[in-house]
Amino acid sequence: MIINRAAFMTGLGQMEIREIEMPKPKPHEVIVKLEYCGICGSDVHYYENGRIGDFVVEGDFILGHECAGVVVETGSAVTELSVGDRVCLEPGITCGQCEFCKSGKYNLCPAVEFLATPPYHGAFRDYLAFPENMCFKLPANVTTLEGALVEPLSVGLHAARQGSVTLGSTVVILGAGCIGLCTLLACRAYGATNVIVVDVLENRLAAAYKLGATHVINAAEHDAVAYIDELTNGRGADVVVETAGAVVTVQQTSYLVKRGGTIVLVGMAPQDTIEFNFAKILAKEAQIQSVFRYRNLYPTAIQALASGMIDLKGIVTHQFEFDALQEALDFVTSNKRDVVKAIIKF
Ligand SMILES: NC(=O)c1ccc[n+]([C@@H]2O[C@H](COP(=O)([O-])OP(=O)(O)OC[C@H]3O[C@@H](n4cnc5c(N)ncnc54)[C@H](O)[C@@H]3O)[C@@H](O)[C@H]2O)c1
Ligand SMILES: [Zn+2]
Ligand SMILES: [Zn+2]
Repeated sequence: MIINRAAFMTGLGQMEIREIEMPKPKPHEVIVKLEYCGICGSDVHYYENGRIGDFVVEGDFILGHECAGVVVETGSAVTELSVGDRVCLEPGITCGQCEFCKSGKYNLCPAVEFLATPPYHGAFRDYLAFPENMCFKLPANVTTLEGALVEPLSVGLHAARQGSVTLGSTVVILGAGCIGLCTLLACRAYGATNVIVVDVLENRLAAAYKLGATHVINAAEHDAVAYIDELTNGRGADVVVETAGAVVTVQQTSYLVKRGGTIVLVGMAPQDTIEFNFAKILAKEAQIQSVFRYRNLYPTAIQALASGMIDLKGIVTHQFEFDALQEALDFVTSNKRDVVKAIIKF
């Protein structure tokens, strides 16, 4: 008999693995046996605090949304996928009817059901039923480990696209966590020739350098704004992407952006209201863009991985077994500086 297990967060910092029913596919769904699921900053946040903004965990809750696996069963109306296909799951199921869905900006759908965003359970379980049209087939040369990382990579690709990064762009990326590094890979793939990455942790800057940053700056040792001013001969960057989620880095963006350039806000700062120099934006005719997850990018991400244009393998620093999920979350929580990306193997 096949056993399905799920890891429930039963309280702050508490996980419990329990047997759950095997899912049955609705006509347009497939059953995916999960192989990898990344631990995201948001999972850690729910685990530690039980909430992110207005999203509050109530009752036992399954975390995890960066996942990939193998199709083991197909619903009666499934046409594109077959048993044995390896797929990664785009975690946001949208209504398809609202003006945002209809205009292709489905990431803005107010009715989205996103894995591991309360009240919708996530993917830390062996088997999951999911709509066929949100499961993307992986080519033979892309592993399910890479498939699980398509989720954060898509955030980076969306950031590069929101900033209109192109061949020859000079980009500053503030923050070199998983999202900053994925943004770096994306900007390089979109053609940025100069990518300056700023962080306060040496190990993350070393990772950024290895993944193709042209300059790395430790903001604990240098005044990042002055340093970048010098590097760009006082011109600033075509695109500044904020992925640190700190008040100071949000504030730095208006000083770092070039005249006519673009700021892309990705990081979620601890406070909603931040003092910001809008006079600089005005004088520079700079644009401010933002990123909410991603849209229409899974196929692009998978093609980039398959072609070798983007190599994600350097991102994962820690791997744990599903049985050790509690240990994994505790480790990530207490070693935030050392862990760039942890992933769970089923
Ligand atoms: N907009 C979206 O759709 C979206 C999606 C995913 C994640 N996020 C957000 O993006 C941010 C990054 O996510 P992550 O998983 O990479 O987090 P992370 O915490 O691993 O990375 C943040 C990095 O910023 C660095 N940092 C802190 N202060 C800094 C400073 N003053 N100057 C330069 N760097 C500094 C940290 O050392 C760290 O390496 C988070 O705020 C997360 O909530 C947003
Ligand atoms: Zn995530
Ligand atoms: Zn919608």
